[in-house]
Order: sequence, then C-alpha cells, then structure tokens
Amino acid sequence: MILNVSNLFKTYTRRGEEFNAVEDVEFFAWSGDFSVIFGESGSGKSTLLSLLSGINRPTQGSIVFNGADFANLTDAEISKVRNDKIGYIPQESVFLPHFTVLENILLPRALRDGKNIEVKNLTDSVDDDIVSKFETLGIAHLVNEMPAELSGGELKRASIVRALVNKPDIVIADEPTSNLDENNAKIVFDLLAELAHSGTSVIVATHDARGFKYGDRIYTMHKGRLLPNSESDFGGL
Ligand SMILES: Nc1ncnc2c1ncn2[C@@H]1O[C@H](COP(=O)(O)OP(=O)(O)OP(=O)(O)O)[C@@H](O)[C@H]1O
Ligand SMILES: [Mg+2]
Repeated sequence: MILNVSNLFKTYTRRGEEFNAVEDVEFFAWSGDFSVIFGESGSGKSTLLSLLSGINRPTQGSIVFNGADFANLTDAEISKVRNDKIGYIPQESVFLPHFTVLENILLPRALRDGKNIEVKNLTDSVDDDIVSKFETLGIAHLVNEMPAELSGGELKRASIVRALVNKPDIVIADEPTSNLDENNAKIVFDLLAELAHSGTSVIVATHDARGFKYGDRIYTMHKGRLLPNSESDFGGL
C-alpha cells in the first residue's frame, strides 16, 4: 500500500462557524491503482487532494505515504516528499510567470537535484519519455513560450507534464480534464491509465463521466465524506 489515510478531518471556520470540508475520511491507494473521486462542487474534493499531497495539513487524522506519517515530518520534509515522489496536478494551473513553460516544467527536477534550471532546448533538457508526453498532449510546440501566452487547457496539459517530470510514485490530479475538449480529455485519461498500468498510483478528482470507465475504484464525496460509489449513483457529476 502506498497511501493509508484514516480518520481524516479538515475543519474550516466561516463567519464564526466551524465546518468540516473533509470529514472522517478513510482512504487507501495501491501502486498501479486508478482511483476516481466524483462529487458535487464544494463537496471537499480539492481539500482532500490538497491534504493527500501534503499541501495542507489536516485538522485531525493520519496520512501515511510510503510508510512515512506526514504528521512526523516538518513542512520542509513534506515539501521534499511532494516534489520528489508525488505528482500533484492542481485544479487551477500555477506557473511562475517569468519562466518559460519548459523551465516551469523542469523546476521540480531542478529542486530535486539541487540544481539551477538549465534549459538549452527541449531534447537536451529532458529525457525521451517526457518529450513523448509533450507530444502526446500536443504541447511540444509551446514549451518555449511564457505561461501567460498559453490557454487554460494548454496550461493544464503543461501542468500534467510538470507533475510527471520526477516520475512520481503517485499522481494526484484535481480535475485534470477541466478546460479540455473531448479529444484532449480522452488523451489525458489514456495517459493517466497508462501510468497506472505501469505501476503508478493514480488518484483523480473529476466531474468528467469518463472516470467511471477508467477508475478501478470509484468514490463520491458528499459534504466532506468519501463514499464508495455504486454504478447507479451518477449524482453530483
Ligand atoms: N481555505 C478555506 N477556508 C474556508 N473554507 C474553504 C477553504 N477552502 C475551501 N473551503 C470550503 O470547503 C468546501 C470544499 O471546497 P473544495 O474546494 O474542497 O470543493 P470541491 O469539491 O473541490 O469543489 P469543486 O468541484 O467546485 O472544485 C467548500 O465549501 C469551500 O467553500
Ligand atoms: Mg475542486
């Protein structure tokens, strides 16, 4: 088991009232396993994924990743684990505006190796595997542009490549096909499925009904709770 989550809560306060954006979640993920989380807007999907990827700390509960309990790690240690081992694709793409797309994509690798970003050209800077992902996702021609010059869907695809640059053990993708047309959405799901087949653990939060076909395990979030799904329940897509 790569990820073991138990009794997880994230409590926020709004207008003086506390509420649980994530409530008593139990979750397990294995290598080669494709988990899909559906749920209506505001149900807590992004909050849960931010906890699993170590961006946010839970209010209560435990997250054990590859045998290491996040609660025993400092923020710097969690950041290192996240950068080196976890491929997180945020719901809203975040890029450093003064670096090119390729430089942004190589940043996790530079951080891992303690080096400056050195970009000559695409084929010199990254291995064939990453070049082929650029090509599969149709953004190879954009890598030397600045992020502000890309569309939302192009940035989304770039952030998918960035999440894969360190060959993570687990990929945590928050709405990876939002902003994408039919064809590109299918390409993204196929790519995630291929990663799962080759042993990566994949967790996707989505409103995209393709998830039913691709997921080995399907869940629905409802008011912070994570429920195993039955095929008949298409609520909250
Ligand atoms: N930092 C925060 N402070 C207070 N409340 C928050 C914070 N972040 C999220 N929330 C609230 O927590 C709940 C869950 O939000 P979250 O973003 O996890 O939902 P979601 O399922 O990802 O929704 P969507 O499908 O729209 O992306 C929402 O009610 C949201 O308003
Ligand atoms: Mg969300």
